[in-house]
Amino acid sequence: MGSLFYLRVMMQDIETLESELLGEIGNAKDLDALEAVRISAVGKKGRLSLMMRGLGQMAPEERQAVAPKLNGLKQTVLDAIDAAKSDLNRAAMEARLASERVDISLPVRPEMQGRIHPISQVTDEITEIFADMGFTIAEGPDIEDDFHNFTALNIPPEHPARQMHDTFYLPEKADGTRQLLRTHTSPVQIRTMQNIEPPHRIVVPGRTFRCDSDQTHTPMFNQIEGLVIDKTSHMGHLKGVLKEFCRAFFEVDDVEMRFRPSYFPFTEPSAEMDIRCTFAGDHIKIGEGDDWMEILGCGMVNPKVLAHCGLDPNEYQGFAWGMGIDRIAMLKYGIPDLRAFFDSDLRWLKHYGFVPLDIPTLGGGLSR
Ligand code: DAH
Repeated sequence: MGSLFYLRVMMQDIETLESELLGEIGNAKDLDALEAVRISAVGKKGRLSLMMRGLGQMAPEERQAVAPKLNGLKQTVLDAIDAAKSDLNRAAMEARLASERVDISLPVRPEMQGRIHPISQVTDEITEIFADMGFTIAEGPDIEDDFHNFTALNIPPEHPARQMHDTFYLPEKADGTRQLLRTHTSPVQIRTMQNIEPPHRIVVPGRTFRCDSDQTHTPMFNQIEGLVIDKTSHMGHLKGVLKEFCRAFFEVDDVEMRFRPSYFPFTEPSAEMDIRCTFAGDHIKIGEGDDWMEILGCGMVNPKVLAHCGLDPNEYQGFAWGMGIDRIAMLKYGIPDLRAFFDSDLRWLKHYGFVPLDIPTLGGGLSR
């Protein structure tokens, strides 16, 4: 009798434990809580483990009744824990997917806010055109000495051209010499001929400086120089190169050009080149009309310049030109005031600037 009563209590305890454990499993909010339930049930000192350990002390017939119950409960609990575990894992994955959602229809970030300055754009356009003709790009220092900026270019001291250049000088050094901010890109002609064996085919974009400021002049401005030196190049080649440049740069089939005799100390003969155009209000049309616009100075390199660079004028000859980048940029893109180039006004840059990935190429189009 007593043992039957004990058995019934035992069976009831097992049922109570089952509903308690299943309740705890259902309430477990995360994997840690679930693990705590597992340990409290089937861990070494878990409630179910202790009951199973008690089996050894039972009478055989009791054990026969209780053991399958306990084993069944253990399996039920382990199954319930597994099921809860995969529910929790799935919920965690869903929460993560929801929080990490990306809208793939959004534009690429960061958005391209920046713009390429028209001077950079036009410099790229010009160098692209000359690179295509086989020229390389050369550069030189902004701070020059008297020899490279003047004397070697056949502008000796007291030459009137020195007054015309309105030079910025640096403070006098101990040896009495003064460095200066280069007044043109022509000194790079000298540096190239001094340092590299001919033949030469270079273009030289860069900053230049003159003490001058009004609506069409800024103390800092940009030039691009060209130099060709070999044994046979002549004025006809100069005209051909510049014509090809104008057609490519202004993106027109033909540009009528005019060479006017001029004077530069470093070229002989010298010329200034005009292109045909029309002024219509503040708009300029290139290649047609009754007006002419001067865009560059050029000529055959003066034999005295070659000699200053250690080249034999009886063996070598060539041509050169120099052009203002800022002015030609204003011309091409209808920009009215030179000074705005250097104001760093973001509204201006947004209007006149270029999108960074629109790199000018001859194949893909220079200005599109
Ligand atoms: N250096 C001249 C200037 O700044 C421009 C120039 C004219 C450069 C004729 C040349 C040239 O190379 O041949 O005004």
